[in-house]
Amino acid sequence: MVKKRVAVLISGRGSNMAALIEAAETDDYPAEIALVVSNRSEAAGLAHARQQGVATEFIDHGKFGGDREAFERALDDALRAHRIELVCLAGFMRILTPWFVGRWSGRLLNIHPALLPQFKGLDTHRRAIEAGATSHGATVHFVVADIDAGPIVAQESIDVRDDDTEAALAERVLEVEHRLYPLALRAVAEGRAKLDASQAQNG
Ligand code: GRF
Repeated sequence: MVKKRVAVLISGRGSNMAALIEAAETDDYPAEIALVVSNRSEAAGLAHARQQGVATEFIDHGKFGGDREAFERALDDALRAHRIELVCLAGFMRILTPWFVGRWSGRLLNIHPALLPQFKGLDTHRRAIEAGATSHGATVHFVVADIDAGPIVAQESIDVRDDDTEAALAERVLEVEHRLYPLALRAVAEGRAKLDASQAQNG
């Protein structure tokens, strides 16, 4: 089996990245984590990736001023230099332009800690509790130009408990994420989940 070469883009802790690296170590997994890129040098995930023997790149978005596309061209160059075929966003805190999203269309995934289309954006666990949601969870989706809006590859829900705190709920959702992302990446790498060209344009 020829494994798909995958890059994981992070900005921080990198626990989803670690889950993907671990899953990809299995012989029958259809993807290998060939590169981890961070826009923050201090991201804990970068050190972890290095320890695991995964190639890493730090691309400082600050260096490009406000020019998002210039940052993304550097990112795109790094991905191409490492012959990357699929890209997984995992806590990558940069908004991507339509240029980059279009270039990687159908090959770009994100994980979001909520049951999309509910609770797009940040602070999803707090907002779910405040809204009185009885279920919550995580979603892996193809990235389109609109934020947290692309077609869903995989989703798993859990119950919200009456006495849940933001931290407790976040912890249980994170466990779901670590299971879900490797499953979703497997489905995309095996060609079982594909982005429909007509959906690529939409939010
Ligand atoms: C996760 O909750 C992910 O869903 C969200 O950002 C968080 C990243 O956590 N997009 P980690 O860096 O993977 O630990």
